[in-house]
Amino acid sequence: AEHMGADLENVLFTEEQIQQRLGELAQQVWADYDGKHDDLLLVGVLKGAVMVMADFMRALPGSAAMDWMAVSSYGSGTKSSGVVRILKDLDTDITDKHVLIVEDIIDSGLTLNWIRTNLESRGARSVEICTLLRKPEAAKVEVDTRYVGFDIPPAFVVGYGLDYDEKYRNLRVIGTLAPHVYS
Ligand code: PRP
Ligand code: MN
Ligand code: MG
Repeated sequence: AEHMGADLENVLFTEEQIQQRLGELAQQVWADYDGKHDDLLLVGVLKGAVMVMADFMRALPGSAAMDWMAVSSYGSGTKSSGVVRILKDLDTDITDKHVLIVEDIIDSGLTLNWIRTNLESRGARSVEICTLLRKPEAAKVEVDTRYVGFDIPPAFVVGYGLDYDEKYRNLRVIGTLAPHVYS
């Protein structure tokens, strides 16, 4: 297709819906971390969380530090392998920090479950998770997630950071891919 949007079957969330929800989560997070803002560290998971981090962070009423991890849990396709590798580690020592992991989606839960355990083992004071999307029916492991934007059905979704074979991350909406894209 000429235009990326033409590869979508359905738009699940518009730009406005995404921003509205991130604004609510940001207010909630800021209130919950009252008195701890100076020790709050937002940890984004590359690459999918780039858009969520940028907009969530700017919706916060004040400053919070940011760091990034890159892990690999998927190949180029749509299925989870369950294998997690650190491709880029944090720059920051998180000892005594209040870490809030920022993610685009929890699918099987394998990636976040692994990252959370990994970060907890480094002596963080707390580790919580904020994800824009979650697929409860796709969960292979239970991940205790304090902040969830939207629960969605177990369909493959793209846009707003979420890719299919590295494409569609720059869509401003989140949607399901039309079947013809896979073939
Ligand atoms: C995707 C997504 C999450 C993870 C969720 O990342 O951004 O990080 O998979 O899947 P899970 O809950 O089944 O583990 P991906 O590995 O595709 O890398 P990317 O963020 O660079 O696209
Ligand atoms: Mn990811
Ligand atoms: Mg991906």
